[in-house]
Amino acid sequence: MTDLATLRTAWLDRVADAADPAALEEVRLAALGKKGEVALMMRELGRMTPEERQTRGAELNRLKDEIDAALRARRLALEDAALDARLKGEWLDVTLPARPRPRGTIHPVSQVTEEVTAIFADMGFSVAEGPQVESDWFNFDALNIPPEHPARQEHDTFFMARAEGDDRPPHVLRTHTSPVQIRAMQELGAPLRVICPGRVYRMDMDQTHTPMFHQVEGLAIGRDISMANLKWTLEEFCRAFFEVEEVELRFRASHFPFTEPSAEVDIRCDWSGGQLKIGVGESWLEILGSGMVHPKVLEAGGVDPSQWQGFAFGMGIDRIAMLKYGIPDLRAFFESDLRWLRHYGFAAGDVPSIEGGLSR
Ligand code: PHE
Repeated sequence: MTDLATLRTAWLDRVADAADPAALEEVRLAALGKKGEVALMMRELGRMTPEERQTRGAELNRLKDEIDAALRARRLALEDAALDARLKGEWLDVTLPARPRPRGTIHPVSQVTEEVTAIFADMGFSVAEGPQVESDWFNFDALNIPPEHPARQEHDTFFMARAEGDDRPPHVLRTHTSPVQIRAMQELGAPLRVICPGRVYRMDMDQTHTPMFHQVEGLAIGRDISMANLKWTLEEFCRAFFEVEEVELRFRASHFPFTEPSAEVDIRCDWSGGQLKIGVGESWLEILGSGMVHPKVLEAGGVDPSQWQGFAFGMGIDRIAMLKYGIPDLRAFFESDLRWLRHYGFAAGDVPSIEGGLSR
C-alpha cells in the first residue's frame, strides 16, 4: 500500500514546481483527473473491507482536498505573478508631458480680426458681412461716388468680366468694406451699430500694399451720434487693441465722398531697425479713414437723414496687425511661407485679451 504521506509530499512538490498554468493543469489531471493517481486509488476502495474502506476513504478524501487546495493556491499565485509582470511591462507614466505634434497656427489676420471683433462687441457693435464680388452700385454709387467721380479712378479697381453683348456696368471686387454699410442699413435699419470685417481688393503692391488686403468697417447710426463719439470710440479701441494706456492718434481733415466731414487717422510709431513699435517714434502710419455718414449714403441705405445721423470708419486690419505684432512687410502675410506662419502665427488658445482695456 502506497505511503500516503510520501505521495502527499510528492504531489504538493509538483504543484509548487508548476511554472505556468499549463503545467499546473497537467499536474491536476495526473493527480485528480478521472484517470489520475488519486482516482485510481479510490477505485481500489471497492476491494477493501468496510472498516478499511472507511479509514482509507477518509484519508484519500483528505489527500484529494489538500492537493486541490494547493492547486488553487498555486493558480492564484501564478495569476498574480502574471498580472505583476504585465503591469511592469505595460507601465505608463501619465504625468509625462505629451509629445509635441506639428500643428497649424492661426494667421495674424484671423487673430486680429477676432481681437477687433471682441473689442467692438464689448462696445455694442455686432458683425455684418457682404459679398466680395460687389455691384458697382453698392461699391460706388450708393456711397455717393457717381460714375464719373474721380474717386473711382483712385480706387485702382479690379473689374469682373461681362458676357459678350452684356453692357451693364461690370461687377467689381469690392475696393473697400464700405458697401457693407449700405447693406447693413438696408437690412437692419436705424439705430444701428455694426462692424464689417473682410477682404478688399485694389491694384497696388509694395511693402505696405497688396492687391488683396483686409479692412474692418465701423458704422454707428443714432439720433445724435457725433464726431466726438467717433473720436472716443477710436481712441478707446486703440487703447484696448494695442494694450497700452496712451496711444497717440492724429486726426487729419480729409475727404471721402461718403462722409462729411471726413478725417484720416494716423498712429504714432517707429520703424527704425526694421521693427515696428507703436506709440513711440517720429513716424505716423495711416490706419483708417472716417467721418460722419453723408446724408446721401443714409438715403441709399433707406435711413431718413432728417431723423438719423452717425459715424463710419474703415480701418486696415493688416495694418494694425503689422503694428501690434511688429511685422515689417505686408506682402509676407499672403505668401503662405510656413516658416513665417510658424513665427508670426498664434496658437488656438491665444484668446484676445481686452481685460482692463475698456473704461466705462
Ligand atoms: N472706405 C474708405 C477707404 O477704403 C475708408 C472709410 C470708411 C472712410 C468709412 C470713411 C468712412 O479708404
